[in-house]
Amino acid sequence: MDTFEYRGKTLFCENVKVGDIVSEVGTPAYVYSKGAILARYHELKTAFQDVDTLICFSVKSNSNLSICKLLAEEGSGFDVVSGGELFRAIKAGGDPSKVVFAGVGKTDREMRYALEKDIFMFNVESLAELKHINAIAKEVGKVPRVALRINPDIDAKTHAKTTTGKKENKFGIDFTEAERIITQSAFYQNVDLCGLHVHLGSPIYTVDPYVRALRKIVRFVKNCREGGLDIEFVNIGGGYCISYTGEKVIRPKDYAGKILPLVKEMQCNLILEPGRFVVGNSGILVTRVIYTKETVHGKKFVICDAGMNDLIRPALYDAFHRIWPVNTSIKMPKVENTGKSPVKRGMDVVDIVGPVCESSDVFAANRSLPRVKEGDLLTIFSAGAYGFSMSSSYNSRPRPCEVLVEGDRYHVIRKRETYENLVSGENFTW
Ligand code: LLP
Repeated sequence: MDTFEYRGKTLFCENVKVGDIVSEVGTPAYVYSKGAILARYHELKTAFQDVDTLICFSVKSNSNLSICKLLAEEGSGFDVVSGGELFRAIKAGGDPSKVVFAGVGKTDREMRYALEKDIFMFNVESLAELKHINAIAKEVGKVPRVALRINPDIDAKTHAKTTTGKKENKFGIDFTEAERIITQSAFYQNVDLCGLHVHLGSPIYTVDPYVRALRKIVRFVKNCREGGLDIEFVNIGGGYCISYTGEKVIRPKDYAGKILPLVKEMQCNLILEPGRFVVGNSGILVTRVIYTKETVHGKKFVICDAGMNDLIRPALYDAFHRIWPVNTSIKMPKVENTGKSPVKRGMDVVDIVGPVCESSDVFAANRSLPRVKEGDLLTIFSAGAYGFSMSSSYNSRPRPCEVLVEGDRYHVIRKRETYENLVSGENFTW
């Protein structure tokens, strides 16, 4: 579990006891390891170093300014999907000339903002969008780089709600339409059409979908060049998997081994947009048990102070996250059994739930957990990606604080929200 490890009976993040952090900052709290984030970023960078590669951290996975700043300082670029994410990337010290901008619904205002900041490239997802960017660029007197986002109709074999590269998905442009656009590229004099982008979904547990998509891209690049249009950049998006269960999964070097030969064949520069791989296992959500209860039917609930508003992945995608007490004498298994859990001595089979008034507010159902009592702390692992960034204040619950651990020190990088924060911006003067 990267730099989160039990030493004796206690969970540490780097050299700090997780229990010590939350006794100061309270719960629920997101805790991230700086060392883990940097290690993952460099693992990816090293794996792809054989070709000219721009890594653009996917801001949607974790948009905290301090996390973005850490990565900006390592030279990372950013993948953004809104004006707000671009604002964050720049505010965190990110270099706009290393920013790529994706998303099916960029507004004129967002395009103007990105043009004003001279970002590296727009990933354009429809003909209508291309017309807009071309017109706005003309108006402001700029010629931005553009990549067409291709929808290659490839099943990335991931959750239906996180699949993006199938023909029924809203993302990207199919090859036929892309070809038409390329043959008519003379109409779009105010953009520099020099890239292709493909993002298949997330998380992707085999290299095969990338390879299949890239083979199609290789052919397409060849056709473009024969037609007189040089494609200099190929962006293969994100989706690099992490282990949520402790099971071994493929690593960047495994992806790179199969992907790089195809990139070399095209002689293109490569762009990657990793999110989850960099931050997913670099963060946890710490929560406190408020109550336990058992029904007459023998069902046991562990009710904690974090809810689906703080971490929505289990409710939204039935996502599996390991959960284990922060302090326990029972060893967390190396690999979690995701099937029906056996009851072992000192353990209960429980539903771990939050306080939100929705039946889907369940972090884990029928999960084997060391017996816990009111006040005990639980860790929800692998929560660094799409955790806080997807949180809300539903049920008027102030959002958790975020903490970054650095060796034997830690810093609060986002304060816990207050009741006043919840209502700021609302008024009675209408
Ligand atoms: N590039 C594009 C164009 C994307 O849409 C995404 C993620 C990424 C890169 C980064 O993918 P990553 O490397 O993080 O897998 N909320 C879901 C995941 C949705 C991903 C959306 N797009 C979850 O919690 O699993």
